Amino acid sequence: MITLILFLISCLGPLINISALNTCPDCGNSTVPFPLSTNQNCGDSRYKIYCNNGILEFLSATGTYYNILSIDQNANKLVINPSLIMKDTCYSSDLQEGGFLLHENLPFNISTHNTVMLLNCSQSILLSPLNCSSNSICRKFEEKVDEGSGCVSTLCCHYLKDSAMSSHRIRIRVGGCTAYTSLVDFKVNESIDSWNFGIELQWVPTN
Ligand SMILES: *[C@@H]1O[C@H](CO)[C@@H](O)[C@H](O)[C@H]1NC(C)=O
Ligand SMILES: *[C@@H]1O[C@H](CO)[C@@H](O)[C@H](O)[C@H]1NC(C)=O
Ligand SMILES: *[C@@H]1O[C@H](CO)[C@@H](O)[C@H](O)[C@H]1NC(C)=O
Ligand SMILES: *[C@@H]1O[C@H](CO)[C@@H](O)[C@H](O)[C@H]1NC(C)=O
Ligand SMILES: *[C@@H]1O[C@H](CO)[C@@H](O)[C@H](O)[C@H]1NC(C)=O
Repeated sequence: MITLILFLISCLGPLINISALNTCPDCGNSTVPFPLSTNQNCGDSRYKIYCNNGILEFLSATGTYYNILSIDQNANKLVINPSLIMKDTCYSSDLQEGGFLLHENLPFNISTHNTVMLLNCSQSILLSPLNCSSNSICRKFEEKVDEGSGCVSTLCCHYLKDSAMSSHRIRIRVGGCTAYTSLVDFKVNESIDSWNFGIELQWVPTN
């Protein structure tokens, strides 16, 4: 009997250890839940993120790092900080890279909980189904949030990033729209103080 128990422990022990080892160590104050991986010895390497001086970062397809603001392991989601709009301009800092772009072959996409604002757009945007009216929440962003002040009195629009759109990019360009920001779980009647700035990404669950 004792032999059998010892046998079971020696067989199962390594399995238990492997799954424990597979979760990455904390990064600064942030836990790194499985399958996210900050180095090749932990997590699942397809779900690579970066730990840079205690700050978790997500690398886009264009080589830009975005700070990770929160992770919800149960919902397979994380929220990154949208790139900042440079002071006294209406240019997002990732404008040169065309905005935010995800590799299509990675197990991440942009979730359907993001309300994106496009700023300093050219007139051709009016042909799109986006909300570019004077009631668009992008006007509030320009008027009430410091970061948007460089965009005042340019054409701007907002839209819910739903499943009818590319879930791998938020596109900006010179001659189109030159800046953007995004809100997670925006609700129509919510006051601007409770706006939750971020881009929510979803990952494919591991089996
Ligand atoms: C970690 O938490 C401590 C205490 O709340 C705080 O002082 C410190 O700045 C945090 N470090 C980082 C990298 O966020
Ligand atoms: C545009 O968005 C605003 C704010 O959410 C809303 O009040 C308005 O009805 C929308 N307009 C159109 C044309 O969808
Ligand atoms: C808006 O974009 C155009 C190019 O599309 C640019 O020439 C102009 O400087 C931008 N405006 C601001 C305030 O950044
Ligand atoms: C928003 O608030 C207005 C006025 O308080 C109300 O009439 C409207 O039904 C609300 N809309 C939603 C979506 O809750
Ligand atoms: C994004 O990925 C999730 C998880 O795999 C999937 O359920 C969802 O349909 C994808 N969304 C889009 C718009 O492709």
